[in-house]
Amino acid sequence: MSESVLVALRGVSFAYDEGPPVFTGLDFEVREGRALALLGRNGSGKTTLMRLLSGGLRPGSGELSVSGRVVRHDRKGLTALRTTVQLVVQDPDDQLFAASVGQDVSFGPLNLGLSDTEVRARVAEALAALDITALADRPTHLLSYGQRKRTAIAGAVAMRPRVLILDEPTAGLDPDGQERLLATLDGLRANGTTVVMATHDVDLALRWADDAALLTPSGVHTGPVAGTLSRRDLLTAAGLRLPWGVAAGLFLRAHGVGADTDVGPRTPEELAALAAAPEYRDRRPG
Ligand SMILES: Nc1ncnc2c1ncn2[C@@H]1O[C@H](COP(=O)(O)OP(=O)(O)OP(=O)(O)O)[C@@H](O)[C@H]1O
Ligand SMILES: [Mg+2]
Repeated sequence: MSESVLVALRGVSFAYDEGPPVFTGLDFEVREGRALALLGRNGSGKTTLMRLLSGGLRPGSGELSVSGRVVRHDRKGLTALRTTVQLVVQDPDDQLFAASVGQDVSFGPLNLGLSDTEVRARVAEALAALDITALADRPTHLLSYGQRKRTAIAGAVAMRPRVLILDEPTAGLDPDGQERLLATLDGLRANGTTVVMATHDVDLALRWADDAALLTPSGVHTGPVAGTLSRRDLLTAAGLRLPWGVAAGLFLRAHGVGADTDVGPRTPEELAALAAAPEYRDRRPG
């Protein structure tokens, strides 16, 4: 099955002013409906890549396209892009600016020139999706960090983008906050939103993503998550460790549990379930 390419960079080169190139001749695709994790060490270019995909940075050469149409980096082109691709930056304080949560989340839809009724509907929907309806009238500067993060994501969700790009969305969230955010993202995905996230957490990427893109000095390597996060050469180049689930899968297969083609457990719960399965329960590695 080949999902259609929703957002693509073709032959993109980019350098910040006076800086060395961050990307040279980069080809990169976001496929519709595939959850994509971007991984790489500090400074490898994850944030830069996300800003190129969302139109915030303009490639020095090469092009950005959405559904096969090249995006022009002028006001009209970027306005159209904002209804398709939304970026949530890592630090919510860089994104939130309105006095209250409701005002902040309504800003994008208001700017699209939608009717008040439509804006209200979108804000209500986004607040509900992020589970912050009760915070609608709260001043943004009085929120906790996790609440500010959810508010920033709600602001992007209210634009009903086809692609939601999140820069380290789980960083700074407690375990329950992470779980709730992942559940929220699952809900958005079930409604047809394609989600891209940058993360340093290989275990999170393994359980959440369909595909992983590893940013290494030799380029960006993208593929199905389990296979990509099993490649020790790529992991080393990207400054990442082997995910626990991949290591557990290797161990199990070495002891005859699971077929060679299995990807192994993706979560501790899956591993525990395997241990409890009748065919393995009484088995001891010999
Ligand atoms: N505004 C900027 N001006 C100049 N150089 C920048 C700017 N932002 C990033 N860079 C440089 O571009 C490169 C890629 O940085 P980027 O922020 O994309 O990395 P990252 O993978 O997101 O890192 P992190 O994991 O620390 O968030 C780095 O060498 C960085 O120093
Ligand atoms: Mg970054």
